[in-house]
This record gives sequence, C-alpha cells and structure tokens, in this order.
Amino acid sequence: EKGGYPSFMEKEINDQPAAVGDTLLGRADAAGRLTLDEIRIDPELLKNVNKIIVLACGTSAYAGQVAKYAIEHWVRIPTEVELSHEFRYRDPIVDANTLIVSISQSGETMDTLMAVRYAKEQGAKTLAICNTNGSTIPRESDAVLYTHAGPEIAVASTKAFLAQITAAYLLGLYLAQLRGIKFQGEIRDILSDLGAIPAKIQSVLDNADQIKKLAREMAETKSVLFLGRHVGFPVAMEGALKLKELAYIHAEGFAAGELKHGPIALIEEGQPVFVVVPSPRGRHSLHSKVVSNIQEIRARGANTIVIAEQGDEAVKAYAEHVFYIPETPTLLAPLLATVPLQIFACELATAKGYDVDQPRNLAKSVTVE
Ligand code: F6R
Repeated sequence: EKGGYPSFMEKEINDQPAAVGDTLLGRADAAGRLTLDEIRIDPELLKNVNKIIVLACGTSAYAGQVAKYAIEHWVRIPTEVELSHEFRYRDPIVDANTLIVSISQSGETMDTLMAVRYAKEQGAKTLAICNTNGSTIPRESDAVLYTHAGPEIAVASTKAFLAQITAAYLLGLYLAQLRGIKFQGEIRDILSDLGAIPAKIQSVLDNADQIKKLAREMAETKSVLFLGRHVGFPVAMEGALKLKELAYIHAEGFAAGELKHGPIALIEEGQPVFVVVPSPRGRHSLHSKVVSNIQEIRARGANTIVIAEQGDEAVKAYAEHVFYIPETPTLLAPLLATVPLQIFACELATAKGYDVDQPRNLAKSVTVE
C-alpha cells in the first residue's frame, strides 16, 4: 500500500502530481469556464460577499496564506487568514456578507469545526475545502469543495497541502468569474498554467537526488532558518514546520523583509538558511530584494540554500546550494517550491532514523481543543 516506497510520507510526496491533477479534474468546461457545481451557495449570495476569512490550522493555514495572495489579486475581496483557535475567541466581525472558507485535510479538526460553527451562528456563509468525504466540517458547512489528493496517511501533511492551494485557487477563479472581474480568457490562461503544474512537480521529484544528498549531509544540524517573500513566505513557514515535525530540529520561517527587523541577529557562521527566491520575471522587483537578503546573510556567515527558478543565474554567486524549480507564474510557484522542502525534511528525518509517518507527540487529526 506504500506503493513500493519506504514510507507513506515518501509515497505521498510522490503522489503530488496526481493530487494536483485530480483536484483540477472536471472543474472547468472546454471553454475554460469553471463549473464548480458542488458549491451550492446561491451565486447571487456569493456576488455579495465583501470579506473572506480563511480558517485553518497548521499546514492547512499555510495553504490559506498562499491562497490569500491569489484571491485578493484575482477577486479583489479583502481576505484574512486566521488560525481557527484564535478566531473563535477574539470577537471577530462576521456577517451575512462574509464568506468563511475553512481548509482542513481531515475535516475533523476540532478547532476549525468550532470556528466554523461560531461563524455560522453569526450568519456567515461557510465553505469547506476538505480532503475527506463526508467528514464533519463539510457536513456542517453550506458548501464544500473537495481536494482530491486521496487518503493522506502520514501524519505530516504534504499532498493535501498542494491540493488545498489548488482548490483555493479554483475557488478564487470561480469567484472572479462570478463577479465578472477577470476576462474569461485570463481565467482560461491561469487554468492552463495550473494544468501544467503536475508535470512540473514530477520534474522536481525526478531531480530530488541533490536535495536528498544535502539532507543526509545535514543530519546533525541543530537549527535551520527559512526565508521567503510574497507567496514564498508561507512556503518558508511550511518548510520550517515540516523540519520541526519530522526531524525535531529547531526551524523557523521568516518573511524575508523582516530580516533587518530582528531575525538577522540570529545569523552566525555556518547557520543554514533556506531562501525561497521569487521568479526574476515577477512583478515589483521582489527578486532583487530577496537576492540582496541572500547577500546580507551570506556576508554574516550563513550557509545559504536557495530554491530558485530555472534560469535564474543571479542567485548562483551567493548560494552554497541552488535547487532549481521549473518556470511558472509567481502565484503558482508554491506548488513547486514546497516540494524540495518536503523532500529535505523527510530525507533528513530518515537519515536520523526517525519514523517519518508517525512523528512523536503528533496525531493525524486533532479532534480535541
Ligand atoms: C502538519 C500537519 C498539521 C495539520 C493541522 C490541520 O504537517 O499535518 O499541521 O495541517 O493539524 O489539520 P487538518 O487539515 O486536518 O484540519
């Protein structure tokens, strides 16, 4: 059942092209119009939504943070992402024009369930992005958009994360379509870029040897930092979470722009730092800002490990190690950039002899508060 892999985790990392592909399957017609029939919320109600709040925990919350960038850019509806357990206890402002989007692999996370119930009581519309058919959160929500990642057995989430980002993007494009904000041609183009993602993930998987080798060499590392910017920020957070969970190594993710506001004080000789670099083709010259960050930390002795887009030669001069991912539009890059970080954590934990499917102290679904 592990499909020839030594662990479920490795199988699930390698399942990711299918997890994304299956989540996209059958959700648009030949003309590129999204047909999310399973969203039973009246389209008129959805047109009136003036605020989106994404509720989730852990890795699923990082998927929400990635989706926020895309949804606000495409749909122009203010979108907050909040940890379910924080949301419930802070008197949030929610009304009938608020769309609550919960994200949960299991559909049973108690904190997220309670937050959804609370929002419903306040009159909000609730939509669940979920990987488990018939689980509690989708049953209690007004609508559900299933991720089709297949059962996720390993405790640490991998393929569900990529499927959640994919589903949240479909939702964003659907809302844009409903509200007539994006021209249909543009939506079709984004869908076609999404359609190209599974093969690109496969190429990252096919080139995993280099990152696995580095992971084994770093088995004795005590602390690893992760930097990212824009959609690369939640990717950095996710990379750090995977390493904590699987390898029990102190790991911390930061927004690259925060460096000089504090975290740069942590940099000393030999400190390993992963940097998720935005595409040089992206807007706002974020690429050059992050490249400057790499220079700054390297000058202070950091061992820089860079995830960059194929063809990005500028990073080479400042990186001890570069891992290239295929070219893709900026908003879709998390679907590729996360994969080497998952592989790194899994391989390093394996090298230390840990059980990657059942990390200590963790449960697959957290059904208590
Ligand atoms: C991390 C991980 C957890 C879950 C979190 C939410 O690898 O698996 O952080 O993402 O417990 O679980 P779900 O998505 O089932 O609500």
